[in-house]
Amino acid sequence: MTTKKSNHQAEWWRRSVVYQVYPRSFNDTTGSGVGDIRGLTKKLDYLKDLGTDIVWLQPVYNSPQNDNGYDVADYRSIDPMYGTMEDFDELMAELKARDMHLMLDIVVNHSSTEHMWFQESRKSKDNPYRDYYIWRDPAPGGGVPNNWQSKFGGSAWQYDEATGQYFLTLFDKTQADLNWENETVRQEAADLMRFWADKGVDGFRMDVINLISKDQDFPDDDGSIMTGDGRRYYTDGPRVHEYIKELYERVYGPYDLVTVGEMSSTTLQHCIRYSNPEEREFSMTFNFHHLKVDYPQGKKWELMPYDFEALKGLLSSWQIGMNEGGGWNALFWNNHDQPRALSRFADDGRCRVASAKMLATTLHGLQGTPYVFQGEEIGMPNPNWNDISEFRDVESTNMYRIMVEMGKTPEEAFEIIAKRSRDNARTPMQWNYGPQAGFTDGTPWIKLDERYPEINVKMQREDPDSVFSHYKNLIALRKTEDVLTDGRYIRLDEGHPQVFAYARTNDRDTLVVVSNFTSEEAAFTLPETHAALGHSQLELLSGNRPEVPTWGDQLELEPYASFMWIIRG
Ligand code: NOJ
Repeated sequence: MTTKKSNHQAEWWRRSVVYQVYPRSFNDTTGSGVGDIRGLTKKLDYLKDLGTDIVWLQPVYNSPQNDNGYDVADYRSIDPMYGTMEDFDELMAELKARDMHLMLDIVVNHSSTEHMWFQESRKSKDNPYRDYYIWRDPAPGGGVPNNWQSKFGGSAWQYDEATGQYFLTLFDKTQADLNWENETVRQEAADLMRFWADKGVDGFRMDVINLISKDQDFPDDDGSIMTGDGRRYYTDGPRVHEYIKELYERVYGPYDLVTVGEMSSTTLQHCIRYSNPEEREFSMTFNFHHLKVDYPQGKKWELMPYDFEALKGLLSSWQIGMNEGGGWNALFWNNHDQPRALSRFADDGRCRVASAKMLATTLHGLQGTPYVFQGEEIGMPNPNWNDISEFRDVESTNMYRIMVEMGKTPEEAFEIIAKRSRDNARTPMQWNYGPQAGFTDGTPWIKLDERYPEINVKMQREDPDSVFSHYKNLIALRKTEDVLTDGRYIRLDEGHPQVFAYARTNDRDTLVVVSNFTSEEAAFTLPETHAALGHSQLELLSGNRPEVPTWGDQLELEPYASFMWIIRG
């Protein structure tokens, strides 16, 4: 593998910002209580105003919705819940009219068991679709073929009476893993992407794409490395790069698409390969290591305060490693699978506004393509529900049941779900302070956060001090300051217990970002090299407190203060 650097200024998506839309919870135009495609189209001016270049639209295909659309029953359709194909075409046209791009979510590690392919596949062992999925005989003594676990709890194997075999499901039991060893399946995946590329979409977000190549021996996992749930045998698996290169040749390259791969439990080395342009795989990758710093020994369903040093260390090593290897990071704090970062890493109460801005500045100063998840740009927090009946998500409800079965009290299990559940991010978008926050005229499919009368788009859009305006400013900087795109990353804080500080430098400018992650005041000593940089050319690009620290050896920072300066060369 070569590590020649690409020209960072050449590819448009390296200077872009992506806005992630979870359509169920974005904007409902029918009163059904579920958001829809026309609801998104109506908000395009808002997204443009924020500075969005690319909209990532999460799955809107026909689906039984057991995993909110990540269980696709027909890849070339629109679920009536979200509207029609005409609505989709209108969305495309309206995006293009605003010079914005669309990235669709493609889920081809698995399909719904309601997909025609699976319905055929399960009929008989000699059905032409049998080999589209991963079928195995019971273990010699009976029972599941191996000890792999589903990511949503329980065995990863489901028994099917009709043929007396098990099929693999790494997620919900209705999400059957596709068999990528089968060339026809790989052709099908390419074909369905061509269908959408022909409609004019500009790119794809590839769901858990690093899980598509399984070790064909399907060994039991003895837990000696990684978590013992089988992931070592299918994560960044034996043929994964070959398969992605094939997709590049068949679709991404010919249509000149922007692509992001969602990489579960991956490594830096693999992500360099996935995203270095010379490898001809993806444009960029998501990894989740920085969002596991509050998992004790990697265990998601146990609680601990987050490890600040680990957070800084991980963000830094990926900044440096991806840059040196010629890879490209997708930068994010939030998505639909994570509790709100604001509630997790900062203060979502009294210092909510400063905290939201601090997290934003810290992330938007890094190298990569930033992603904003709906509601993040107005500082939406976790909703703080107090009853398990509010939760809708299959993973959360499964894990609650399993934890109680395993001996936790309902209160203990609830406390964990309340902190960890993905539903924290899925509450309806807060457009205004009217009924249902302007999200729907009906009853929302999931409860709103009760703080919407104070936290909403309407109150923030014209307010220059709002979280929204702060994001807008940061997003605009990506277009004007080259150093944000090509500057080399240098960590400045050397293990400070409260402060994360770094610089970015290209052959002209130096950018310095200093953030206090705590509710206490902090004093931070700038390294001499940076303290000495020309005071006269110093310019403040972004800040979240009226008291701007005086530049010098020692910076005094208020709680959650965060500043971005540039020293022009
Ligand atoms: C990752 C998606 O982001 C998540 O929401 C989904 O449950 C799994 N992949 C399975 O498709």
